[in-house]
Amino acid sequence: MLGNPLEIHQSQKTFYEVGKRLFFQRGGPHDFSCASCHGEEGKRIRLQDLPILTKNPGDGVGFAAWPAYRVSNGQMWSMQLRLNDCYRQQRFPYPGFASDATVALSTYLGVNAKGSASVAPAIKR
Ligand code: HEC
Repeated sequence: MLGNPLEIHQSQKTFYEVGKRLFFQRGGPHDFSCASCHGEEGKRIRLQDLPILTKNPGDGVGFAAWPAYRVSNGQMWSMQLRLNDCYRQQRFPYPGFASDATVALSTYLGVNAKGSASVAPAIKR
């Protein structure tokens, strides 16, 4: 039998906690974590502002923006592809597509974005 759909289950809490750990997990040749690029105010890379994802980045950014059409490569990207491309930028092996790791990271980003308006499907650089 299905429980109350608004109830937060232990498994969701676990995914959030695992996602948070993954976000701060350093590794790869540069010893980067997601937080290295998305954990502080005012970080930029190649003239690109990097959104802070450890808290709510605001409407239409991060979790509230994907899937999005990327003008730079003319492709529609899911959050999965967005995450994998950031793992590539981190010089870290990609987690499996739709793996528990990516679901956990998305849960962490989604909970952090609580209250912001989604503009998905968005248009991104
Ligand atoms: C080396 C720096 C770097 C690291 C490390 C990195 N990212 Fe990113 N991230 C970027 C850049 C640059 C962009 C913007 C890409 C663009 O617009 O071309 C971005 C964009 C994003 C976005 C989309 C933000 C938006 O505009 O809506 C999300 C979500 C994201 N990163 C999540 C992550 C996660 C999760 C990790 C860890 C697995 C991570 N990033 C690691 C550089 C990084």
